[in-house]
Amino acid sequence: MIDKNQYYDYIEEFIDLYSKRPFKINSNGMRFNHSFGIFYILKTRRPKLVIESGVDKGHSTWLIENTLDTEIVCIDPKPHNIIYKAKNGIYFEDDFVGIDWTKFNINNSLCIFDDHQNAYSRLMEMKWWGFKSAIFEDNFPTDEGDSYSIKQAFDETGHERIQLSEGFQQSTLRGKLIRYIEEKVLLKNYWRQSILRKSNKIDKVALDLNLNEYFEIPPIYVNKISHFNKEWSGNYEIKSKPLFKNMEDIPKIEKILTDIPDDQLINEFSYCFISYVKLN
Ligand SMILES: C[S@@+](CC[C@H](N)C(=O)[O-])C[C@H]1O[C@@H](n2cnc3c(N)ncnc32)[C@H](O)[C@@H]1O
Repeated sequence: MIDKNQYYDYIEEFIDLYSKRPFKINSNGMRFNHSFGIFYILKTRRPKLVIESGVDKGHSTWLIENTLDTEIVCIDPKPHNIIYKAKNGIYFEDDFVGIDWTKFNINNSLCIFDDHQNAYSRLMEMKWWGFKSAIFEDNFPTDEGDSYSIKQAFDETGHERIQLSEGFQQSTLRGKLIRYIEEKVLLKNYWRQSILRKSNKIDKVALDLNLNEYFEIPPIYVNKISHFNKEWSGNYEIKSKPLFKNMEDIPKIEKILTDIPDDQLINEFSYCFISYVKLN
């Protein structure tokens, strides 16, 4: 179990580090709350090997490298988007399942999945190779997001369309048409792929069987309304309550506020239920 007070011990140290981040506006990637989640787990679990699946520009790579002295493996099929590279990072353009993990000592490792793939499949793949611990950067609530999440598995609601969130649908006619055809084909050949998952009662049973530890890492502070434009209640309820109710009460917060344009504040304090999981 996590001692709630322990979170507070790390906030000032985190803000000192975060104020030095290379990309002041990390569009497409994690911001303040999720970066704190990664920082907190790295500090408290101290893995010797971190697997980062989903690199993009390299914000999370920078965060890992500057939080802990650890070996880093970075995976992204689109390496041309990478701007910041870890000095001693080992880079792969393949998928997590396409890497020979017997070449690494994974005994004390942490996988950080920010690759928008099926989280339930990722847990099975981890078990296949013998990984135990992971962070899922996005743990989408039911009816949201672009990948099957642990929350959706526990809710038994599946993930029946590629993008569930209203505000993130394809906007052009061409995009809508392609998405429609993609989904039709995927559902027709449903048993052969893992992007879409029908609502089911089985995945929850298997999660209960295999999860040793599972918790949502609390945000430091959140906007009044969620990332999905919904109140923080029902499916959007935050299980681990925000550490601060008022932004002004966060120690040293002014160190980062000066870097962030007003129109970006809402993104900076977004939160998508970043979660830590440990398998049996
Ligand atoms: C949300 S971005 C990652 C942001 C990054 N972690 C950060 O915080 O700055 C998602 C990334 O996942 C990558 N991606 C897509 N499929 C992937 C896969 N199968 N394995 C690893 N990365 C993948 C995309 O190319 C994209 O760069």
